[in-house]
Amino acid sequence: MKALVLAGGKGSRLLPITHTAPKQLVPVANKPVLFYGIESLVAAGITDIGIIVGYTADEIREAVGDGSTFGADVTYIQQGKPLGLAHAVLVARDYLGDDDFVMYLGDNFIVGGIEKLVEGFREERPDADLMLTRVEDPRAFGVAELDDDGRVVRIEEKPAHPVSDLAVAGVFLFTPVVHEAVRAIEPSARGELEITDAVQWLIEQGRKVRSTLITGYWKDTGNVSDMLEVNRSVLEGLEPCIDGKVDADSEIIGRVRVERGASVSGSRIVGPVVIGAGTSVTNSYVGPSTSVAENCVISGSEVEFSIILEGASIEGVGRIEASLIGRQSQVTHAGRTPRAHRFVVGDHSKVQITP
Ligand code: DAU
Repeated sequence: MKALVLAGGKGSRLLPITHTAPKQLVPVANKPVLFYGIESLVAAGITDIGIIVGYTADEIREAVGDGSTFGADVTYIQQGKPLGLAHAVLVARDYLGDDDFVMYLGDNFIVGGIEKLVEGFREERPDADLMLTRVEDPRAFGVAELDDDGRVVRIEEKPAHPVSDLAVAGVFLFTPVVHEAVRAIEPSARGELEITDAVQWLIEQGRKVRSTLITGYWKDTGNVSDMLEVNRSVLEGLEPCIDGKVDADSEIIGRVRVERGASVSGSRIVGPVVIGAGTSVTNSYVGPSTSVAENCVISGSEVEFSIILEGASIEGVGRIEASLIGRQSQVTHAGRTPRAHRFVVGDHSKVQITP
């Protein structure tokens, strides 16, 4: 069995971060979302992994390499344009050959692994097996309708009037018959070849499509609030560890990881919090559910429930909450009067100010 990991796409809901970096590499507890997915594939015994890449191919290649650090053998498959999830399967036809495969969406976050799902598929070998989860508002997802035996009888992409609360989560298992399906369908109203349409086609051909309902934690990290929520949830399980330097004037409370080469002085850190290697925190407060990546500077500030990416500095700005701060960004005090905000804000940025 092979895996097809989707790490192309546009990432429009995570702009401006995705102007310069793929959404699949935004870190959760200082580790890219994509890495969690690759690790759970390897844990399920799947090591032949094809990664679909788009305009951010170089960054994904640089981060994942040949896969050996994960114990995997990674092949990159270029998708010219992000024309849909089923289009990604079309593009990967040669790589996938006649093998069964797991399709894993690279921006999805699943706690609890996929071992059971893969085992169930191997035992019964339906033509498609979908991972489903109950959500409050299914309109942003593929939505499935099941019969009394749990077989999928209908599936619809982002319906305005969902027939159930069962959303299609980011993992699908297929036999090679799906290649016929992705060739048979037409682009949807949003101009994409939808994998859900391919699955609907299988159902209409009388093929066996089953589903596995997961009750564990699942999130599509497509937007900032989901990203912050996934980060919060992963940090709950953080193993505390102080490898960096913490001075006597600082206070560390709860689950806190201070990585090697990081320094904390005159500050209060209330976990769960991770402070990345080479980062310095001075005269500041870092509060729960915050991940600070490598080589950042936080001084004279308060940060809570946020993700701070590599090399960012936050200096003398009071309190920051529920924020995603991009790589090498500077959030600093404006200095002398007049009392005014001063910005150099990139395209598609979002700044919210409390006067
Ligand atoms: O997150 C679960 C949902 O994922 C499902 O409920 C939907 O049925 C499914 O269509 C999909 O919907 P999204 O609109 O959220 O998919 P998104 O565009 O975010 O793409 C998912 C991943 O696939 C993401 O890592 C980007 C990548 N991708 C996407 C497209 C459209 C590609 O690699 N190539 C593409 O052409």
